[in-house]
Amino acid sequence: MKSEDAEEYTQALGQVVAGGWRQIALGQRLGVPKALGLSTQEWVKQRLGGYVRQSIPDRRATTAEMRAEGYSPGEISAVLGVSEMTVSRDSHVTNVTETKQSSRKNGDGSQEDVTNVNDAPLELLASLSATNAIRQEAETTAARAEREAAREQERQANAAKVATVTDPRELLKVGRFATIVIDPPWDFKDEGDVNHFGRGKQDYAPIPIEQLLTLPVDELADKDCHLYLWITNRSLPKGFRLLTAWGFRYVTCLTWCKPSIGIGKYFRGSTEQILFAVKGSQPLKRKDVGTAFHAPRGGKRHSQKPDVFFKLVESCSPSPYLELFQRKTRSGWTGWGEDAQQRK
Ligand SMILES: C[S@@+](CC[C@H](N)C(=O)[O-])C[C@H]1O[C@@H](n2cnc3c(N)ncnc32)[C@H](O)[C@@H]1O
Repeated sequence: MKSEDAEEYTQALGQVVAGGWRQIALGQRLGVPKALGLSTQEWVKQRLGGYVRQSIPDRRATTAEMRAEGYSPGEISAVLGVSEMTVSRDSHVTNVTETKQSSRKNGDGSQEDVTNVNDAPLELLASLSATNAIRQEAETTAARAEREAAREQERQANAAKVATVTDPRELLKVGRFATIVIDPPWDFKDEGDVNHFGRGKQDYAPIPIEQLLTLPVDELADKDCHLYLWITNRSLPKGFRLLTAWGFRYVTCLTWCKPSIGIGKYFRGSTEQILFAVKGSQPLKRKDVGTAFHAPRGGKRHSQKPDVFFKLVESCSPSPYLELFQRKTRSGWTGWGEDAQQRK
């Protein structure tokens, strides 16, 4: 590659947003740093404003993705700014959690939030670049996006599994429930969010609001019933619609305060809400509980909720307990959901 082209790539990358691993990897493959007489690390540090420091789960996810795309440990190490030892360790861990975050270390050691740089459009990079080599490589990268589409198919296969989930009305054989917790697989397309790939994308099939509205929650609820509806801040308006459709009246909202910030295009999520609603009349078992609780993130799976929440519910609301869209069995609880069914 000619040094003018390398200079152009570097400037184009700076215009898009510096630091996305895909763009760095592409530059490395094209020989941009070499053409400028720099190592990849020097190029990133001197010309692109430094490495984006990733959280450990985020870095492991990136490493897994790069391995899958055929990058060598040496290339990964240079692109992510970590040692080959770290790459090797990370390669053994494939779990990705929703807690992935990106932040950049400022010179003074403080952390600055950064945009999800992997969202930076390679098409834009290609259009900013005059050379064929850059265009071609950007096109190759678009092919990688096809692989993301393949992953999407996997999610759809999960959706097929979902088709085998029993009708929740089967639960009526157990009886009706005095307390119901629901944690639906929200569909971000309801809000018109179409580009929810990567960090924000669930590993399960989402359910559109129209379908959630038809869940027989009112039938499963006893005459007097407490309902706890887990909901992301983004989905809140849908929650109130559901409560009404299911025959509940909204009372208040509990807030899970997470220990660190997560993802978000505007504000970065560090809270999640639980809408508390009532059918009939049923007081709380205790009157000394506030509307916020602090707890670590639930676990390794996407959208996993903290156990402390279920303890809180048990201390405030009466049994029998039902959890819809359950993943993990809980003693004293009836559970229903795709994951719950796979366990049987
Ligand atoms: C938000 S997650 C629940 C997370 C769970 N509360 C936890 O703390 O781990 C939603 C769950 O709904 C399941 N699911 C998705 N579509 C479903 C469907 N149509 N019927 C039943 N379960 C479904 C998913 O597999 C996933 O386990």
